[in-house]
Amino acid sequence: MKSEIIAEHTDNDPLQLALEEAAALLQRGDIVAFPTETVYGLGANARMTEAVEAVFRAKGRPSDNPLIVHIADVKQLDEMVVSVDNTSRRLMEAFWPGPLTLVLPVKPDVLSPRVTAGLDTVAIRMPDHPIALRLIARANCPVAAPSANRSGRPSPTLASHVLEDLEGHIAGIVDGGATGVGVESTVVQVQPNGSVLVLRPGGITLEQLRNVAGVDIVTDPGITAAPHGENQAPRSPGMKYTHYAPKGKLTLVQGDSPSGVADLITSHLKEATSRGEKTGLLVFDEHVNLYCGSVVSSLQSMGSLSHLETAAHRLYAILRQMDDEDVTFILSETCPEEGLGAAVMNRLQKAAGMAVIQLNS
Ligand code: TXA
Ligand code: MG
Repeated sequence: MKSEIIAEHTDNDPLQLALEEAAALLQRGDIVAFPTETVYGLGANARMTEAVEAVFRAKGRPSDNPLIVHIADVKQLDEMVVSVDNTSRRLMEAFWPGPLTLVLPVKPDVLSPRVTAGLDTVAIRMPDHPIALRLIARANCPVAAPSANRSGRPSPTLASHVLEDLEGHIAGIVDGGATGVGVESTVVQVQPNGSVLVLRPGGITLEQLRNVAGVDIVTDPGITAAPHGENQAPRSPGMKYTHYAPKGKLTLVQGDSPSGVADLITSHLKEATSRGEKTGLLVFDEHVNLYCGSVVSSLQSMGSLSHLETAAHRLYAILRQMDDEDVTFILSETCPEEGLGAAVMNRLQKAAGMAVIQLNS
């Protein structure tokens, strides 16, 4: 009897074939979207200026906003960075692969200068996603990859989000289903005085950094500056732009009393509806029953306040859903800026263009 070979040969594994094709596209200078554990990235060979320029063009991204370089092996660092200080080293050992990006001194003439937007530093991370890691290893080059959305739109957490924004402008996409964390990586830079400066809150929390770093963790005060405002400019170039914005007008409503917040939201929704607006509302599960008297077209749950991973995971898809439903007026509850709540609130504030109604108790 002839034995059947049951296990598929790797050459016939559809994912393996897709990765080989995507890696070949990257190598020859095309741009390809792929999943990471945070959001989908739009990848380019970081050594090729033409490829990196194609990323900026496809996204409509301002050229002064540098890209994160993705690696699959810490050995790739030596080629790109002048040195790695002890604190950065500890952080990578603890959190790579994972949603932490480290800003390090860049070696000249290795990467395209467009990746770093002319800075003397480069932002590097090792994503915790098997498809991303296999693709980068196979492409055999550092992969510059911003989030794979049109500039200013919510970041993509599904392949369909990428296609919505970029179809026809990219060579391909590796579909890996929904991403996990849902908000981008935390971006940090170790300062000359040894402290860790958080340039963008993200998937690794301040508490996690604090437990490992053994030094002060400071948050860049510019992070929450109003877009294009006169407040202190953020240290990370990307944080100064309006981000993640849905097409409808989003406003956050913040206050100590959930029922007070719900009453205010209910009356604003009523007014908006009578003006002819199509309304949307983002709430936490604990408060849903406070809105049973509200009239709202699109009611979206961010999950439980005791599990903010859900809010992070759902946030961008909810904002895109509001667009799909042509919602014009959106209100959102807020959460404490602790743990992942810091990243969730940062993205909500940016999406709202810092529009917040503060309810005094
Ligand atoms: O989770 C993520 O980080 C995703 C996935 C795809 O990896 N990527 C991502 O990339 O969010 P992007 O381009 O959307 O955001 C990169 C951020 C921007 O705020 C940029 O200004 C900052 O990192 N950045 C990049 N290089 C920098 C540098 N040398 N110094 C300071 N900030 C830098
Ligand atoms: Mg982005």
